[in-house]
Amino acid sequence: MPDPLPSAESVAELVAQFERSLAEVTSDREAQALRDRFLGRKNSVVASWMQAIASAPAAEKKNIGRYANELKQAIEARWTEYRERAAQTARPAGAVDVTLPGRVRPLGRRHPLTIVRERMEEIFTRMGFTIVEGPEVEDEWHCFDALNMPAEHPARDMQDTLYLASPIRGGSGSADDVRTLLRTHTSSMQIRYMQAHPPPVRIVVPGRVYRRDDLDLTHSPMFSQMEGLVVGEGISLADLKGTLLAFARDMFGAKSRVRFRPSFFPYTEPSAEIDVSCWQCDGAGCNMCKQTGWLEVGGSGMVHPAVFEAVGYDAERYTGFAWGIGIERVAILRYRVEDIRLFYENDLRFLEQFPF
Ligand code: DAH
Repeated sequence: MPDPLPSAESVAELVAQFERSLAEVTSDREAQALRDRFLGRKNSVVASWMQAIASAPAAEKKNIGRYANELKQAIEARWTEYRERAAQTARPAGAVDVTLPGRVRPLGRRHPLTIVRERMEEIFTRMGFTIVEGPEVEDEWHCFDALNMPAEHPARDMQDTLYLASPIRGGSGSADDVRTLLRTHTSSMQIRYMQAHPPPVRIVVPGRVYRRDDLDLTHSPMFSQMEGLVVGEGISLADLKGTLLAFARDMFGAKSRVRFRPSFFPYTEPSAEIDVSCWQCDGAGCNMCKQTGWLEVGGSGMVHPAVFEAVGYDAERYTGFAWGIGIERVAILRYRVEDIRLFYENDLRFLEQFPF
């Protein structure tokens, strides 16, 4: 199609045509070609109009020149505008395309036992407890004797102990060699803490404990506990129950109840097993609580006066309560884990199932 002859109408028409075409281009290359067709030095509309000046009659030259200039300026103005707009929206080569979906980075998670332990720590910290930790390698005195379990006490075999080959010197202040062991419970930290701090005491002690058990569905030679100890004047069994009830409600839900089942521990009198109402059936009986309506989470009691005497506390003046809650036990119940071994196998398919 030959280019229209220069006239006021054809200028307007060509500018409109340029605008329409420019709005439809899909690449820089197309836009450039369009511009060249109108403004290029050779074979463009403007170039052909310029050429027409030479062969036009003298009277027409001025008009043709004016139309050619008008067309050139109008197209240049639109082109500049277009380039500026394109520069704002274009992205430089190699830049990030923000419209692409993001890359998902693998994110680590906390171990379910860590989640439960920290949750328990948070609950007890809010109640005013201090978190303390102690050694996993203990001596017999802190683990047993001071807890009212003398050498021949039958309770000592109840927790089949893992002894270490090398004794340490003077574990309880004596110069004699002392047999060392992996602590069978966190209760040994009750002794260490009371030896170092006068009453009042309000601590929780999370930590690993060890027993001579074979690994099976419900047993592990290593597991973790959270010990609790409160000592002061006028501390009663009601305080123990209230504390455990507050814990259970926070951990397992507001409707939880706590039941004490009479038991025996040499370091408490009276002693009780701690049962929490089954949070799945609310006490009605289900497979989780083996139809009993209750879940056992640990042992507890009022601190035996012999324990206070061992650490030099005035047993006439002070009373206290203590507990040992199994952290795996709480995690098993909270997350319905059917095999304790899952906690120690580092199988990501298991570990990835827990909330951060
Ligand atoms: N030490 C006990 C255990 O390992 C748990 C325990 C019971 C801790 C009674 C206590 C307590 O502090 O008072 O099974």
